[in-house]
Amino acid sequence: MSGFSNRDPRTPEFWDQRFGQAFTPWDRGGVPEQLAGWLNPGKAGSDPGVGPLGPTRTCRVLIPGCGSAWELQAFCEAGHDAVAIDFAPAAVVAAQQAVGPWRERVVLADFFTYAPPQPLDLIYERAFLCAMPREMWPRVVQRWADLLPEGALLLGYFYFDAAPKGPPFGADRAQLEELMSAHFTLEWDAAVEDSIPVFQGKERWMAWRRKKGL
Ligand SMILES: C[S@@+](CC[C@H](N)C(=O)[O-])C[C@H]1O[C@@H](n2cnc3c(N)ncnc32)[C@H](O)[C@@H]1O
Repeated sequence: MSGFSNRDPRTPEFWDQRFGQAFTPWDRGGVPEQLAGWLNPGKAGSDPGVGPLGPTRTCRVLIPGCGSAWELQAFCEAGHDAVAIDFAPAAVVAAQQAVGPWRERVVLADFFTYAPPQPLDLIYERAFLCAMPREMWPRVVQRWADLLPEGALLLGYFYFDAAPKGPPFGADRAQLEELMSAHFTLEWDAAVEDSIPVFQGKERWMAWRRKKGL
């Protein structure tokens, strides 16, 4: 018997219970390699072949559904103006413990209502889309599109799988492309070599560029 009374991942309580009981199998405990390489493109050992070209200037970054927010520190230390949000109070506490000096950049907020104080250049995605039932995905894509101006980037890790039950809820490649195509152009798509077990062989490192208008 699990100790979880809430089975609805659309609610903060679902995630609060899992963080509260330290049941977080999606948590990587660190920064994925391709993101680290993208953030530090000139650094010895980083491979420019692993992803889209790295940033050439400071980016205003949002990390929705950040969980422990391991990537927040990496974005900030690379010089970016990053904020991580999560709607589960226990996730925010976990993130504030994980990110050290950047704890004030972790905000308790719902992705669907959060208004960034300034226009964004980039949204970072990992295990957020797949945390939500597929019927919510059109809303998620619309929100990404509303938050990102033309030319801005949606960058991160996308999970592909056909299992009906989740989370994680995997994407179907053709369906994701169709859903995204109204607002985004796929700019980069690469295999991931350092996945944790739950995502092994099923996640892709992708960059989607916000199209004009719409
Ligand atoms: C599977 S976890 C992934 C956490 C993190 N991105 C990672 O890679 O470890 C999904 C997270 O999304 C958060 N979340 C789900 N729906 C949300 C929403 N509408 N607004 C903000 N956070 C949300 C949950 O609280 C949870 O922390």
